[in-house]
Amino acid sequence: MCGIFGYIGKRSDAADIVFEGIKTLEYRGYDSWGVAALSKNNIFVQKQIGKIGDATLHTPPLSSLAIAHTRWATHGGVTKENAHPHLDCTKSVAIIHNGIIENYDTLKKQLHGTHIYTSETDSEVAAHLIEEHIKTLPFSEAVRQTFLACSGSNALVAIHQKTNEIVAVRNGSPLVVGYGDNEQFIASDAAGLLPYTKNVHFLEDNEMAILTQNSIEIIDVQTKAKKKIVPTVLTWTRAATNKAGFATYMEKELHEQPDIMLNISLETTNATSLTKAIREARGTYLIGCGSAYYACLAGTYFFSTIAKRHINATVASEFTYQEDFINDKSLVIALSQSGETMDLIDAVKRAKAKGARIASVVNVEGSTLWRLSDLPVSCNAGPEMAVASTKDLTAKLTHLIALSYSLADKKDEGIMILKNASLETRRIISNQNVIAQLATQFVKKEHIFIVGRGLSYPAAMEIAMKIKEISYIHAEGLAAGELKHGTLALVEKGTPCIVLAPHDETYGANIAAAMELKARGAIIIGISHTKHEVFDHYIEVKDCGPATIIPTIVVGQLLALKITIEKGLDPDKPRNLAKSVTVK
Ligand code: AGP
Repeated sequence: MCGIFGYIGKRSDAADIVFEGIKTLEYRGYDSWGVAALSKNNIFVQKQIGKIGDATLHTPPLSSLAIAHTRWATHGGVTKENAHPHLDCTKSVAIIHNGIIENYDTLKKQLHGTHIYTSETDSEVAAHLIEEHIKTLPFSEAVRQTFLACSGSNALVAIHQKTNEIVAVRNGSPLVVGYGDNEQFIASDAAGLLPYTKNVHFLEDNEMAILTQNSIEIIDVQTKAKKKIVPTVLTWTRAATNKAGFATYMEKELHEQPDIMLNISLETTNATSLTKAIREARGTYLIGCGSAYYACLAGTYFFSTIAKRHINATVASEFTYQEDFINDKSLVIALSQSGETMDLIDAVKRAKAKGARIASVVNVEGSTLWRLSDLPVSCNAGPEMAVASTKDLTAKLTHLIALSYSLADKKDEGIMILKNASLETRRIISNQNVIAQLATQFVKKEHIFIVGRGLSYPAAMEIAMKIKEISYIHAEGLAAGELKHGTLALVEKGTPCIVLAPHDETYGANIAAAMELKARGAIIIGISHTKHEVFDHYIEVKDCGPATIIPTIVVGQLLALKITIEKGLDPDKPRNLAKSVTVK
């Protein structure tokens, strides 16, 4: 969740480099930030709570070694003191940390109260442990011993005033090193390295990196054995991480969707191997978190209606509690944008330990999930920076549709349907007037309900998620059939209800749901291929077969975005949320 950036090398403006570096990782979500830079006589530190966007570094020293951090509070409130970096008592060790040191209390007690703590964080104990170890050990060994003493999923980066190196180690939380020319980098996220290098190595669990100006040494943290690394070359371009003239990343990413759908369906779907794996498996399980889970749910409908196959979908954090039946004939398909979501990684590791084959549809190539997978398939959506997922979700749905048609031996039909859906998505994105007008009416509403049957059920859940996470309006997506079983009690005069009524076998039942809602005073917003008298407002989405779910969701994305902008909120960085959820 926290952002990490470090630099060592030939330049003398290391503090500015890492400061700009964490700015590029802003999208991950954070509440405070800080920089530490090595100068001749001390470690310069600047910390601040709030946004980094407009902040400046106050007179940083000339330095060729610096680290920076954006914090997403877990232990201890959002204060300057709790922001990273943390120093030891002698102020010659600085650390930044991502994750949770679960035994921090025990470690503090073991230090016998001889150390002075200036924060309420679990992280600070690492600086004091290094301080102890460094009395008898070289710096990198002191960091290694410290890390071995910490339990939990962690990424730790440390520097020392008298040692010209950055020492970093991970278990669980992501870290990636970047190889430059007489300069080296470390970050929590590969996107941050793009301005400097495309040659990277994603640290595996229990790998430690020692960065000097000319080299990066990777060792096994348990055995101290040196590892030979062949760098991975990133395929993303730097331009892909810009806003490309849009006011927000979310708008930019939303606009990229029609092209992404075409690229996947026509060129890059690795459907053949995945299709084979599904045919061979005895039990296939789709898992994901948040929006990725809604894609899993949609997958169950695609597989059933298109490929006439049963597939299970489970929220990744719950899969752990129902995987007793997983064995070496099982296939787990994990869906993720970041490939770092802790609950998902945990579930995958457990299934793998039981012998299951792991496939994934993941956007960040080289991420933890990518590396854990026997069969990783790239989403191919390009870097997604806004916290709210748009293009990555569309890419996943496109993959699942293509996969289902491929399983049904109807690949060409799939391609045609996706082409139509891409055209329809483009049309919707270029005709936003009705959606914009509606958004102005929703700004003051406290609740919005979204209902649909069949494929419109996961679509309803996803639209609700988009509205909730960026506009902070309570939105509930549900299967239309469930209305009468409870939620209808909340509907009163003026409650906005979005009814999804595509041209499929659910149409009649969805219109019936709209009638029921209207009879209780609801305002009905119909998203459908055709107008109906029950709709108070109508947004057209032309029929594209099972792929109609994509332009339907895009209407929801636009609505959420416009309400958010109307409310004066920043859609890219919703409160309390992070792009990559690397803690449980
Ligand atoms: C969606 O808009 C979210 N911000 C969130 O639900 C996201 O889909 C979820 O956290 C999963 O992330 P992942 O795809 O990186 O695993």
